[in-house]
Amino acid sequence: MIQMYHVEMRYPGETYGLRDVSVSIKRGEFVFLTGPSGAGKTTLLRLLFGAEHPSMGQIVVAGRNVSRLSSASIPELRRQIGVIFQDFKLLSERTVFENVGITLEIAGLPRRELRARTWSMLRRLGLGHRLDHRPRTLSGGEQQRVAIARALVNDPPLLLADEPTGNLDPDLALDIMDIIADAHARGTTVIVATHDPGLLERYPHRRIVLDNGRLVMDRRPDAFPTPAPQVVWPVS
Ligand SMILES: Nc1ncnc2c1ncn2[C@@H]1O[C@H](COP(=O)(O)OP(=O)(O)O)[C@@H](O)[C@H]1O
Ligand SMILES: [Mg+2]
Repeated sequence: MIQMYHVEMRYPGETYGLRDVSVSIKRGEFVFLTGPSGAGKTTLLRLLFGAEHPSMGQIVVAGRNVSRLSSASIPELRRQIGVIFQDFKLLSERTVFENVGITLEIAGLPRRELRARTWSMLRRLGLGHRLDHRPRTLSGGEQQRVAIARALVNDPPLLLADEPTGNLDPDLALDIMDIIADAHARGTTVIVATHDPGLLERYPHRRIVLDNGRLVMDRRPDAFPTPAPQVVWPVS
């Protein structure tokens, strides 16, 4: 689904977002992208959906070379990718329903189908009673769920989530992870950027660790230590 070859991202002023990152992610994988603040997690995600172009290297997403994508081909790429931004990026003048429906409107879905899918997605996320609300009248957790509904309503082959549980209390964070896990179970390839140790500990997914723009570790689930077998003492 994703191949990155020697990708470098240099921002103006000689700041490096990424340095010589090569990585491959298969269709259907669930990957945590982790590392300290400033490591390059957001930069990597932005490169994948064509929001930035790398200074060097090649990036292939779903068979497209996004390092050389023309702006005309970007909408086609974005239809394949659901993105949950760190700061939600909800449209403040639109209702909850419109914020989610817009994904399907852009995809050109007929009105009836758009309404049905948007409703069912919002109901599934417990937002059925908030359809006509503006984002600012919702709690942080509700806004987060609207952002997730928008990213997933189109059943995208690829989901990119940037700190999707940041600033949420732990119960809400687990709800969000359940929703993402559900999308994964239905076939979506998932990349979650997070530096939340609680989350990483809880889910045994592949971890790609960045530090200072470099890929410093790539651990697959089978490399995780397995718990020792329980010894049951006979009762005498
Ligand atoms: N638009 C930008 N302009 C200049 N430097 C940037 C920009 N975006 C990110 N950076 C720098 O790139 C590095 C990686 O940032 P980022 O990808 O946001 O890391 P993370 O998401 O892991 O916290 C940091 O040093 C950051 O300051
Ligand atoms: Mg970030």
